[in-house]
Amino acid sequence: MKVLGITCGRKMSNTEILVKEALMGAEEAGAEVEIVRLMDLNIKPCTGCNACVINLFEKGGAGECVIKDDDFKFIDEKILECDGLILGAPTYEKAPPGYLKTLNDRMGPSHDMAFRMIAKKIREEKGITKGEGPDERSFKTRLVSLFAVGGSDWTTLALPMLQIFALPMNMTVVDQQLFNWVALPASVALKDEMLQRARRSGRHVGETLKGSVENAEYIGPQGVCPVCNSSVLELGKTSDKALCAVCGVKGTLKTEGGAYSLEVTEEDRAHSHILLSGKFQHAEDLKNFSLNPDPRMDEIPKLIEKYKSYLQHSRPESKL
Ligand SMILES: Cc1cc2nc3c(=O)[nH]c(=O)nc-3n(C[C@H](O)[C@H](O)[C@H](O)COP(=O)(O)O)c2cc1C
Repeated sequence: MKVLGITCGRKMSNTEILVKEALMGAEEAGAEVEIVRLMDLNIKPCTGCNACVINLFEKGGAGECVIKDDDFKFIDEKILECDGLILGAPTYEKAPPGYLKTLNDRMGPSHDMAFRMIAKKIREEKGITKGEGPDERSFKTRLVSLFAVGGSDWTTLALPMLQIFALPMNMTVVDQQLFNWVALPASVALKDEMLQRARRSGRHVGETLKGSVENAEYIGPQGVCPVCNSSVLELGKTSDKALCAVCGVKGTLKTEGGAYSLEVTEEDRAHSHILLSGKFQHAEDLKNFSLNPDPRMDEIPKLIEKYKSYLQHSRPESKL
């Protein structure tokens, strides 16, 4: 069993120390460990070409990205290879740094568990033997622990965005922890409680991997959302319905004894984006609505003529 640590912070600073503490815990539990510093890598942004998704759906292919001149393949391979992941990120402007979102986008649709399962089925049904199908390792359940580090308490979107990183793939979040008020480089080394918390998290990942991954226990703080434990909700102005900003589950917001809770029906629960049922529903919605060609598609070239000829893009001199 292999536990991978990904640190998105500065070299030998707070996030890296916490991720390494967790890896030490995982190692104590018998795991083989490895660490990657995201800032060491060059990951180019997704260009939205959709080639990965087209490859999955039309050819039952591997859904590989067409951008090859960067380090994406390296990190993708590390993630596919691991059984457990400790993902730690500092907070920049209330959320994880943009380069983690860049990786998230590259891993998004092409790594969606339902999309890859559909591709595998298409391949089998059409008897496609050419090229490779989706990597079999995509289908194993990985355990994840998420750490967000902040120099203050301006960290409201830090953990939710880390949860969203774990969403497309078959990753079960078994722990998440916010480490606030750690600003100066490596200053977390003075905070024993935080170090112990991180180590406990890694040990939990390692111990759970030895047992039943499917019945993994969640040891992080309880959130308002009963499905994913996030507490960031989108509230309707005209109803008591609320939407979990992370897993998209819909529920009725209740308050009792000064505490909020989200009451979710079994039917709505099945639509949570962290569950396979919710991911399949999303794939179905895409097929029926957004990817279903409008009967007026052939009018588009004429309609966009005026936008094509309107304005020249300003560019730096070196790009002219
Ligand atoms: C560009 C930038 C933006 C930041 N924004 C926030 C913020 O919104 N909230 C917060 O709590 N800390 C913020 N911080 C502080 C870092 O999260 C904090 O210093 C953290 O310990 C850095 O982790 P590291 O030492 O692993 O790199 C910011 C730091 C930088 C460089």
